[in-house]
Amino acid sequence: MERVFITRHLPSDLVEPLNRRLEVGVWEGDDPIPRGELLEAVATADGILCMITERVDDGLLDAAPRLRVVSQMAVGVDNIDVAACLSRGVLVGHTPGVLSETVADTAFALLAAVVRRIPEGRDLVLEGKWGPWSPFHMVGGDLHGTTLGVVGMGRIGRAVADRAPGFGMDIVYSSPSDKPDAPGRRLPLPQLLEEADHVVLCAALTEATAGMIGAPELETMKTSAFLINVARGPLVETDALVEALQTGQIGGAALDVTDPEPLPGGHPLLEFPNCLVVPHIGSASMRTRRAMARMAVENLDLGLRGEVMPAEYRHGR
Ligand code: GLV
Repeated sequence: MERVFITRHLPSDLVEPLNRRLEVGVWEGDDPIPRGELLEAVATADGILCMITERVDDGLLDAAPRLRVVSQMAVGVDNIDVAACLSRGVLVGHTPGVLSETVADTAFALLAAVVRRIPEGRDLVLEGKWGPWSPFHMVGGDLHGTTLGVVGMGRIGRAVADRAPGFGMDIVYSSPSDKPDAPGRRLPLPQLLEEADHVVLCAALTEATAGMIGAPELETMKTSAFLINVARGPLVETDALVEALQTGQIGGAALDVTDPEPLPGGHPLLEFPNCLVVPHIGSASMRTRRAMARMAVENLDLGLRGEVMPAEYRHGR
């Protein structure tokens, strides 16, 4: 019987298709499986279903000589050395599409929250400091009548851009290739950063995009502009962002992802009232996480059977 290993507990109804014909091992811990135990667990595995918390690299592939499929429950695969997998004939699956709308909802939730100063208002109320109404107390920015800069016009970028007109926003976007169907104007990144009132990062993390927002880019942004990151933390140079918040170089930030991640308590990014940090919950609606798990199970099941996976990831696609 073929054997698969799942690196986190998933709802049993979703895993059922695997149980029928495979021996299924599961890491039952709430925290990510320690590396040593992962390497042991994959020693006899034909397939693994993993999360962004696992590093799939040559070390893991060496420890898993039978491995034929790596199925990740996420769209981003920056934790996986895809080239190493493909060079050994190991298929890689991921979960594109099913999470785009939820991540776009999160991007707008973050954007509206920081621009309208919702977390600051909540803190003030909780601290018992809600004084009499005053004409210019806690005034912030607007979404309507502004220009949204979408960095990365893939599926998630598109879902973000599609929401912008409903909020009365114009759209500019940057992307390595032109997207004739996409709303808004395509601009090189420096121009986008200059023109946009708010910037949402939706690009995949690759060697080319790591650190794409550093000190020069933050300096190019408007001093009233907010930076929203729902992609991957390392797109932004953390120290440069801290400095930009310290000096008032930008209006503020809202981050679903950070570098490092998790962000330790007491980190400088947590000191700014105009910087909202949430713990990588972009796709975390129940419906979407179930859809992602279902797709990851299907990728694994069909990949092992030698059939077409619903979403195979091919390097450079
Ligand atoms: C989550 O971060 C994902 O890539 O799906």
